[in-house]
Amino acid sequence: MPSISPAILVTGGTGYIGSHACVELLAAGYAIHVLDNLCNSRRSVQGRIERIAGKAITLHEGDIRDRAFLKDLFAVRRFDAVVHFAGLKAVGESVEKPELYFDNNVRGSGMLLAAMQEAGVRRMVFSSSATVYGETNTPPFTEDAATGPVNPYGQNKLAVEQMLADHARRHEDWRVALLRYFNPVGAHESGLIGEDPNGIPNNLMPYVSLVAAGRLKELSVFGNDFETADGTGVRDYVHVADLAAGHVAALNALDRLPPVRIFNLGTGRGYSVLDVVKEFERASGRAVPYRIAPRRPGDVAVSYADAARAARELDWRAGRGLATMCRDAWRWQQWRAAQPAEL
Ligand code: NAD
Ligand code: UFG
Repeated sequence: MPSISPAILVTGGTGYIGSHACVELLAAGYAIHVLDNLCNSRRSVQGRIERIAGKAITLHEGDIRDRAFLKDLFAVRRFDAVVHFAGLKAVGESVEKPELYFDNNVRGSGMLLAAMQEAGVRRMVFSSSATVYGETNTPPFTEDAATGPVNPYGQNKLAVEQMLADHARRHEDWRVALLRYFNPVGAHESGLIGEDPNGIPNNLMPYVSLVAAGRLKELSVFGNDFETADGTGVRDYVHVADLAAGHVAALNALDRLPPVRIFNLGTGRGYSVLDVVKEFERASGRAVPYRIAPRRPGDVAVSYADAARAARELDWRAGRGLATMCRDAWRWQQWRAAQPAEL
């Protein structure tokens, strides 16, 4: 008799990280149902995931805050687990619209959790962020470093972590993995999926891509007077395909982990803004002009992971280096630029 693949509900699965996770989960033999309201992604991502993976997925268009929709969805079939990416992620916007962020990210996650509890689905992998760590820590950050997020987005992430952890500790058989990503960058090596921000990007790598493509004039380097080797900010950039594989590793390990386990997902190594600029120039063969600008409020000098726990307990390591991250971001940039804007 053919065995039935375990079914995973991937919220936010047409988004940047979620789409890469779908590819990895399909390769690992899972059946994928995506729940997404498409507020920051496109329907066409479904076809591109399927093209890369050579397998079909099901897209359920809806909102994690819609109780009736969730009830119907969980009645359709028995999900083995939920991988929860859906959320709003723009730090600046979260400062301007904290109520919207709380509603979407915290209340939405609460409604998802309630629907899972009602349907008897007891495993979740959650997208958290290194932004939950406080500014008083000295890198590398271990999972035990003090938390103390400084903006509503980071506060949402910590609130959801705490809500999930409380729930899992109070209810039998629950298993939750809280994955704290460092700086996800790059794209699938096919160049068919990647980060597709609306308007002018806030984050370094998408901005650099557009400068290399000649679509933005120059990069503003936010500060060159930090206490780092070249004075610019240092971050732990992690290839999105490695990050996606981390979700499969966490999902596969859930049953042998304690009810709640936090994992840093990063490479454990930091690169400066100027390192990224130089590597991107090499990967693209294009110049990336830049000028030094004032520091951006809220930016720390150095952030990178102690990723030993994920290596030890999940057997996961981020193997792709900065050159591959830049190569794949550039390949995606070129593919995307050749498509109509409304793709
Ligand atoms: P993304 O915006 O590309 O993907 C999020 C997806 O969720 C989008 O497709 C969006 O349409 C969907 N969505 C948002 N609100 C929804 C709702 N209420 N109901 C249904 N769908 C909804 O973002 P991403 O970069 O892929 O991030 C995925 C997750 O990882 C987010 O939770 C984000 O906070 C977290 N994260 C991202 C980063 C990063 O740098 N990209 C870093 C740390 C953590
Ligand atoms: N930077 C520039 N110029 C730019 C953009 C960024 O110099 O135009 C610099 C920043 O100052 C920082 C580095 O590039 O030193 C990386 O900045 P990003 O905006 O790409 O990333 P952040 O580290 O600020 O934040 C990212 C995500 C957050 C997440 C956090 C977790 O954007 O959502 O990582 O560590 F919470």
